[in-house]
Amino acid sequence: MIGRRDFLRNALVGGGVFLAARSIPGALAVDSVSSSARIEVLTDEPLGTISPNIYGHFAENLSGVVYDGIWVGENSKVPNIKGIRKELVDEMRKIKPSVVRFPGGCFADSYDWKDGIGTADKRPRRTNFWEEGESPTASASHKYDPNQFGTNEFVHFCMLIGSEPYLAANVRSLSAQDFYRWVEYCNSPAGSTTLADVRAAAGYPEPFNVHYWGVGNESWGCGGDFTPQEYAVEFRRWITWVPHYHQDLSFIASGPNVDDWNWTRGFLEEIVKKGKGQLRSIYGMALHHYAWNLSRGATQDWVKGKGDALKFDSVDWYELLRAGDRMEGLITGHWQVMSEFDPEHRIKLVVDEWGPWYRPGGEATPTNQLEQIPTLRDAVFSGMTLDIFNRHPEKVAMANCAQLINCLNSLYLAHEDKFCVTPVGHVFSMYADHQGGQGLRTIFSAPDITYDRDSKAARFWGLRGSASLHDKQLVLTVVNPDVASAREAELAIRGANMQSGTLTILTHGDIHAHNSFEHGDLVRPETKPLAAKGRSVTVTFPAASVSKLVMGLG
Ligand code: AHR
Repeated sequence: MIGRRDFLRNALVGGGVFLAARSIPGALAVDSVSSSARIEVLTDEPLGTISPNIYGHFAENLSGVVYDGIWVGENSKVPNIKGIRKELVDEMRKIKPSVVRFPGGCFADSYDWKDGIGTADKRPRRTNFWEEGESPTASASHKYDPNQFGTNEFVHFCMLIGSEPYLAANVRSLSAQDFYRWVEYCNSPAGSTTLADVRAAAGYPEPFNVHYWGVGNESWGCGGDFTPQEYAVEFRRWITWVPHYHQDLSFIASGPNVDDWNWTRGFLEEIVKKGKGQLRSIYGMALHHYAWNLSRGATQDWVKGKGDALKFDSVDWYELLRAGDRMEGLITGHWQVMSEFDPEHRIKLVVDEWGPWYRPGGEATPTNQLEQIPTLRDAVFSGMTLDIFNRHPEKVAMANCAQLINCLNSLYLAHEDKFCVTPVGHVFSMYADHQGGQGLRTIFSAPDITYDRDSKAARFWGLRGSASLHDKQLVLTVVNPDVASAREAELAIRGANMQSGTLTILTHGDIHAHNSFEHGDLVRPETKPLAAKGRSVTVTFPAASVSKLVMGLG
């Protein structure tokens, strides 16, 4: 049986009424409307501030993500800003992208940051971590890293889009000294060190002030195959006496894969052996969770268990959502384990890789390894996941969707001069309004969806979402996962009156609908006014939809 850990190794070796016919193989249905749902927003029960950083991104130097996706080069015919794809910058500016993680992923633990600085045409070419999984016709830059997109270019990209950089350091094959020298390169004051001078020579005299530093990636697997205890010892050594240059550095430890409670417990147990004070130096523990197993319980094999990105039936739809919905239990479960050592919860969760992962074959550009074309299913999945993060603002400090462009759950697809925003990108744009708001307890009461899962009755929740308050503005996002039925719900606001509102809906008559280079606008949100006055209003959420309500409160 192949698991993800082995795969990574093997890959290198080897409000209205909606009536629409939905395209669901084997179950062509016409939307009906189910009533009897209720949503209650409790304006006087705050949960905590929703960190903008949970709307973060992840860009690994993997196949088409960096080269072709983000970086086209200064001499390209593709419109660019000092080599960075302009259309991507323009689109990202619209979604308030808080933070971007780079350069990996597994790639991070093979990367020497020193290869990616200095004069561009003197930088070395190196074999990319993902080289063996690349097809023979893939671009050379995907196999042999030309290092044209290094620290300067990445930080420049972040500056252009208004994001904070989050750098992941190489623990598997570099030293602690290399790590603090990277910090020195990025953060030492102008003119202070030789590395500050090298940075200035590249056009960046002022420090980059990078706050977020990941110490390795998936250190239980591709990041060094450590035990949690071994990794904790390394981690402690790595973060000891790193120069801070009078600012806070936020160190993120490589955390558990899915429900590996043993990793979380083993790591923290070892850390506190040197005293509880050690906890103060850790900003977050990373958690990774991909939804990949669509085998309906038949296998745990990482390759055999996967489904197709574009060809799926309604059971596959629910199966994917069910796998993604585990996120909430993972957050509360790891939080519980963390409280055994850190009852004051100084350390937060950083979900720095999440999203669906399908089998190969659904690429927009066939040579892009791990690329998949996101459909409406992935938009619903993404809305559901962001709602989960919003419901736990005190626990989740950051999250990074895997990955930004030309990869797994991507917001954008691009190839040469072609570009499109995916349904996932639209969800990020809808949900951006939650950033920095006060999360509010919200009660969703709706009957479960029941469906036939290989001749056995199965259920999935009927309606969920999250709410946040921004002074006198309330933002509510709602996911209706039902492939066939719209859901009518009474929305009640406790503690305030609605005075105005808008309703934005992302859906489509076909659950497989997706955007492409040829049809970039097939799935897109539509906004209309919502007659929201007083304490309650009835809203219809279409089948297979993500909705956002923005209401002025009085
Ligand atoms: O996102 C793709 C890969 O998935 C990352 O490189 C790794 O961290 C994870 O296993």
